[in-house]
Amino acid sequence: MIKTENVSFRYPDGTVALNKVNLEVRDGEFLALIGANGSGKTTLLRQLIGLLKPSSGKVFLNSTEFRHFKDEEVFRRVGMVFQDPNDQLFAATVEQDVAFGAVNLGLKPEEVTRRVGEALKMVGAAELAGKALHTLSFGQKRRVAIAGVLAMETEVILLDEPTGGLDPCGASSIMHLLRKLNQWRKTTMVMATHDVDLVPLFCDRVAVMSEGWLIREETPTEVFANAGMVREAGLRLPRIAHLIEILKKEDGMDFSNIPLTIGNARREFVRLMESQPQTKPESISPPVTTGEPSDGS
Ligand SMILES: Nc1ncnc2c1ncn2[C@@H]1O[C@H](COP(=O)(O)OP(=O)(O)O)[C@@H](O)[C@H]1O
Ligand SMILES: [Mg+2]
Repeated sequence: MIKTENVSFRYPDGTVALNKVNLEVRDGEFLALIGANGSGKTTLLRQLIGLLKPSSGKVFLNSTEFRHFKDEEVFRRVGMVFQDPNDQLFAATVEQDVAFGAVNLGLKPEEVTRRVGEALKMVGAAELAGKALHTLSFGQKRRVAIAGVLAMETEVILLDEPTGGLDPCGASSIMHLLRKLNQWRKTTMVMATHDVDLVPLFCDRVAVMSEGWLIREETPTEVFANAGMVREAGLRLPRIAHLIEILKKEDGMDFSNIPLTIGNARREFVRLMESQPQTKPESISPPVTTGEPSDGS
């Protein structure tokens, strides 16, 4: 478990980026860190791996304050995927880069090879292994950067806008992969993002940042039920929730709750139709396959 206690942070030029942040990352959860540009997401993630030290306040890893750990001890347990893969990748080839962190853990060469192969396969980049990094597209670089962190098999992975710059299918497959790792390997995930549509699909809890303050730490349902707060934080509701909000307000449709995903909205619509016998459908057909990235539940 990682916890911050009253963490404030000021950059050397005087910019105050964090104000008394109390965040608790629970073991095994998938936590979204959402907030507008400049709200402090990246600065907070850097605190959670010790790359930046608080100006005041404390950060704990399993009840021990970060300052009692050597950096290597933290990096063995916590990995971070940077916002810009160009800041993360530096070896000549994909394979060498993905191996870098695992080699530094002091693993045997066979174990490194196994992990590198597995990680590249997981992110769908196995065929890139021998390629020179500078020849990759941005999306490919991001996959390789994620593979490097996966190969370290840390307990916690911090992800700074991992879907930024990816096409919709790429973003969806990365999110499904992260969720799978979270569920199978029990890897704790903390993901900074402003893609609010992803949050209800993949995340257990949401922390909302605004101007360096942590203003909420709740479930997606609780956070997005408060549309005013979400908008004041410079964000928006998930698209589907926005549509339902309009149907409720402007068209008087009687939704008992605001669904956040296409799957839940569909169930709500069917329930409404069933409560109006004249429009009751004969049967519910399976969803039409559109080829779009799936919005499951
Ligand atoms: N190296 C830096 N030096 C000075 N100010 C910075 C630096 N990095 C970020 N900031 C400022 O800190 C605040 C929070 O930034 P950041 O954590 O990057 O936000 P986010 O990731 O939510 O976009 C912003 O006002 C930003 O301009
Ligand atoms: Mg950022």
